[in-house]
Amino acid sequence: MRTHYCGELNESHIDQTVSLCGWVHRRRDHGGVIFLDLRDRDGITQVVFDPDTVETFATAEQIRNEFVVRVQGRVRMRPEGTANAEMSTGKIEVLGKELEILNAADTPPFQLDEHMAVHEDIRLRNRFIDLRRPEMLGRMKMRSQITSSIRRYLDENGFLDIETPILTRATPEGARDYLVPSRTHPGKFFALPQSPQLFKQLLMVSGLDRYFQVAKCFRDEDLRADRQPEFTQIDIETSFLDENEIMAISETMIREVFSKHLGVDLPAFPRMTYEEAVSKYGIDRPDLRIPMQLVDIADLMKSVEFKVFNAPANDPDSRVVVLKVDGGAVLSRKQIDAYTDFVAIYGARGLAWIKVNDIDGGIEGLQSPILKFMPEEVVDSVLERTEAKTGDILFFGADKASIVNEAIGALRVKVGEDLEMLECEWAPVWVVDFPMFEYDDKEGRYTSVHHPFTAPSCAPDELVDNPGKALSRAYDMVLNGTELGGGSIRINKTDMQQAVFKILGISPEEADEKFGFLLNGLRYGCPPHGGIAFGLDRLVMMMTGTQSIRDVIAFPKTQSAACLLTNAPGEVNNRQLRELNIRLREQPKAAEGQVKSV
Ligand code: AMO
Ligand code: AMP
Repeated sequence: MRTHYCGELNESHIDQTVSLCGWVHRRRDHGGVIFLDLRDRDGITQVVFDPDTVETFATAEQIRNEFVVRVQGRVRMRPEGTANAEMSTGKIEVLGKELEILNAADTPPFQLDEHMAVHEDIRLRNRFIDLRRPEMLGRMKMRSQITSSIRRYLDENGFLDIETPILTRATPEGARDYLVPSRTHPGKFFALPQSPQLFKQLLMVSGLDRYFQVAKCFRDEDLRADRQPEFTQIDIETSFLDENEIMAISETMIREVFSKHLGVDLPAFPRMTYEEAVSKYGIDRPDLRIPMQLVDIADLMKSVEFKVFNAPANDPDSRVVVLKVDGGAVLSRKQIDAYTDFVAIYGARGLAWIKVNDIDGGIEGLQSPILKFMPEEVVDSVLERTEAKTGDILFFGADKASIVNEAIGALRVKVGEDLEMLECEWAPVWVVDFPMFEYDDKEGRYTSVHHPFTAPSCAPDELVDNPGKALSRAYDMVLNGTELGGGSIRINKTDMQQAVFKILGISPEEADEKFGFLLNGLRYGCPPHGGIAFGLDRLVMMMTGTQSIRDVIAFPKTQSAACLLTNAPGEVNNRQLRELNIRLREQPKAAEGQVKSV
């Protein structure tokens, strides 16, 4: 039917007769001449029909936007002065000789013009049309190409592509499971995998040595701009490699993808311990494009009168920090108030500040609502420690460490972006030496920071003696403040796995019931092994420069985990429920019907 894609044509095709198929992006009538912008997956070509070809011209007159047509014609240069430098095909056009309407189309619910702001709900409800937009097509293509490069890289490095089950048992990765009722086993449920974690470990027990999978994962968790309930991992596992070797292989993979598809040579990936990341940046996925760091000043605030500072300064679970913003003294009162509201989202009860109007002017050179509460020598020490200069502003955070870390960590990124302080385009970092466990105050027990199969860097008895202090052999790859991937060396011995289950409050019976197959695997010659998983959607999102993960997934869910296109999740009839041995509870009125996206 066709000889070329629309986007392919250029001056080298001049005078060739070509046949194109696609959708009519736009039709324009210009004093007896009809222009069609014909679009396909590859791009847009301008086709011109003049009234000399009577029949064809008459067909062209019937055409509306989004009709599917086939055109045959001759490629020629556009007349002088009419070239369009923004289009790859902008120097040429096709003089249409034949025109066949392959299918008509209703008027689309929105124009495909790329600059038009269409509400996302409308785009998602009509995703098949939204995906026609060159912007979306470009992202889908990029996703396919990135996936293909990653597959090739792993294939060339001896990794076997192996599929693992979707209907399975729960794999704990910290989210809620999506459950599927079993018809043949009344009252029992499959869980959709939160990741292929346990299967990939068992593949190592089987001796497959190097595994990968482009794997669908399912997590019922609170959604954010970079999270979907159903997402894709580049999932990797290897035997007989240590963490340095696994990090090296994955780093090269990411490096090659950036170089090939963006022409970007990523800088070296530094390593940073979890402790350093949290202490300097308030977060375990620091955005290192921004130079600012949190500076601890609790030692200086222990005996000031200001309660807001001295109470946390004397509490080991709290932190008092300063964020010095170079040139930030220009911020207006209104802007500072907006930042105070911003940190309140993270639970901060205020945002004290000092503007340094003249560093040589003593107290007179400073402006702040808190100076009256602090002795001059304390203020001097703060200025000295933060290396403050004229024109800077200091922001203070004082509270429980978790609140200060989150609030001032987020403020650092926000102010850095607002004041355009980004020092580079790409800042990767490996975060290592995570704690094994964190204590959940509400539940009164330890939970895994990574997952329960991650190996600690100490022996089982040391682990049991001091779980709160133990570090793991886990590593996260972080890029520009986003966690792209995470992995670890795994536990490959039964006693260690049992010690971890014990610390997590999982009884031997429960461990056997839930993970008996893994424990069995460990008994039958489990090699030392480890791996990593990358979030493919996040990687593509960053590489295409979009802000929303939904923009790189063909058929994504909304933030309330619904599919507006198919109206999933949907109701099922009573017969199906009966077959599954399920009786529904009465739903409160408000919860009925379709959940609106936010
Ligand atoms: P983890 O839970 O860190 O590790 O997940 C690995 C990577 O998957 C991506 N990711 C997500 N992407 C989109 N939406 C989500 N809801 C979502 N959740 C996670 C992130 C993350 O870095 N089995 C382990 C890996 C291992 O140990 O080998 C795991 O799943 O980019
Ligand atoms: P107050 O005495 O409560 O009016 O607080 C004086 C200044 O301290 C104000 O600028 C508040 O925004 C700020 N502030 C109050 N609580 C905190 C806190 N926990 N951390 C940092 N600054 C705070």
